[in-house]
Order: sequence, then structure tokens, then C-alpha cells
Amino acid sequence: MNKINAIGLDKDKAKYLSEKLNELLANYSIFYQNTRGYHWNIKGEKFFELHLKFEELYNDLLLKIDEVAERILTLGHTPKHNYADYRITSKIKESVQVSDGTKAVEDILASFQTIIVLQRELLTISSDADDEGTNALMSDYIREQEKLVWMYSSFLNR
Ligand SMILES: [Fe+2]
Repeated sequence: MNKINAIGLDKDKAKYLSEKLNELLANYSIFYQNTRGYHWNIKGEKFFELHLKFEELYNDLLLKIDEVAERILTLGHTPKHNYADYRITSKIKESVQVSDGTKAVEDILASFQTIIVLQRELLTISSDADDEGTNALMSDYIREQEKLVWMYSSFLNR
């Protein structure tokens, strides 16, 4: 029986990778929808700055959601698309009506931490599977988001 998939990866390893990527997808999706909430509901003197910043963030998350989902398909599996599934799988939980800028940025930093840790785990798993495609994608995300963590932390004077 053929043990490698269409792109030459071990089938069992590709399956495990896809499960972890579906976990990442769930976290991104909740994070995305939370960020839309911050964008809409933020109040106060930093409104214009943060309203814009959060739009930039959710647009970027949306791109990554699509890339992660299509990576799962490339590995030969199916991305989950229902929020009912996302809510069960995601470590990041749905936010409830955040209008305070500091609270929103703190939530964003906590969400980045969750996502970065998960992506670092995916680095190890993809490296073990010789899956350079997923590995490179994760490295790019980690590098970009570590920088964002620095910037959002600086915004909070931390
Ligand atoms: Fe808007």
C-alpha cells in the first residue's frame, strides 16, 4: 500500500499535521472574529488609532485563515469551517463586548501567545514530517507575529 500522499509526505504524518493545522485554524477564526469586535466596539481617545490598527490585524488574520485552510487541503485533508467546531477546538475563547483599548490589546497579546506556541509546535511536527511547505509558512507567521507582540506590548508601555 502506498504510504505517501500526492506531495510525497508520509500519510500518517500528513494526517497528524492536518489535525494540528485544524486546531490552528480554529484559534485563528475565533481570534479573527474577536478582533472584528474590538474594531467595532472600541471607545475612547485612542479610537481612531486602534480602530484602524484592529482592521489591519483582522485583514491579516483573514489571509492567514485562508492559507492555513488551503495548506490542509494541500496535505490531502479537509479544513473545518463551522464556528461550532471552532468553539470546541480553540484555546482562544470568544471575547465578550470589549470596548476598552487596553483590555483589547491585552487580549490580542494573549491570543498571539497561544497562536505562536501552537505554530512552534507545528514547526517541530512539520520538520519531523519533512514538510518544508508547512514549516516555512509557520516560520513566516512566527517571525511576523513576534514583532507584532513587541509593538502591541510597547503600546501598553510593557
Ligand atoms: Fe470597519
